[in-house]
Amino acid sequence: MIWDKDPGRVQMAKTIADAMKNALAPDGTELVMDYGTGTGNLALGIAPYVRRIIAVDSAKGMLLVLKEKLVTVGITTIEPREWSIGQDTADLPVFDLIVSSMTMHHVRDTAAAARTFHQLLQPGGRIAIADLDSDNGEFHKAPGIAEHNGIDRKDLQQVFLESRV
Ligand SMILES: C[S@@+](CC[C@H](N)C(=O)[O-])C[C@H]1O[C@@H](n2cnc3c(N)ncnc32)[C@H](O)[C@@H]1O
Repeated sequence: MIWDKDPGRVQMAKTIADAMKNALAPDGTELVMDYGTGTGNLALGIAPYVRRIIAVDSAKGMLLVLKEKLVTVGITTIEPREWSIGQDTADLPVFDLIVSSMTMHHVRDTAAAARTFHQLLQPGGRIAIADLDSDNGEFHKAPGIAEHNGIDRKDLQQVFLESRV
């Protein structure tokens, strides 16, 4: 999988994992969803600080790479699962934390994502999202890769605030 061949991407996920760990201050008991986990770089950065992570992605190929990495490093607290917004949530538990990095700009209906995340959270649960800022298409130059040319962070925050139940 070429994703991990770019050291910049791996480093970015590590930086995001550190920032989320510092902001969320997990106490080691948390059940976490990593949405759009890809090859699991964010999940791997957060795993030492939480109880368990369900690492979901819509792409089988990404999850296969993650599964291989987990066997190689011997981590058993990350569970890769194929899932995306719009699919049945019945098999998912409720989470203490939902984290996501560089995925929301690939999700067409961010309001549906926000509603689903809130439904999947324990009372008092928290969501942490790191994503591409609005960029007029400079990051994803080829058409059809992303649903949004980045995400305006204030707009996204508003979408999530409005979707709280
Ligand atoms: C840019 S990668 C980010 C991977 C990882 N979070 C990281 O930061 O290294 C985006 C990931 O989101 C996944 N993805 C895109 N749309 C998705 C969707 N609607 N539901 C779940 N995963 C999605 C892609 O398959 C890909 O693995």
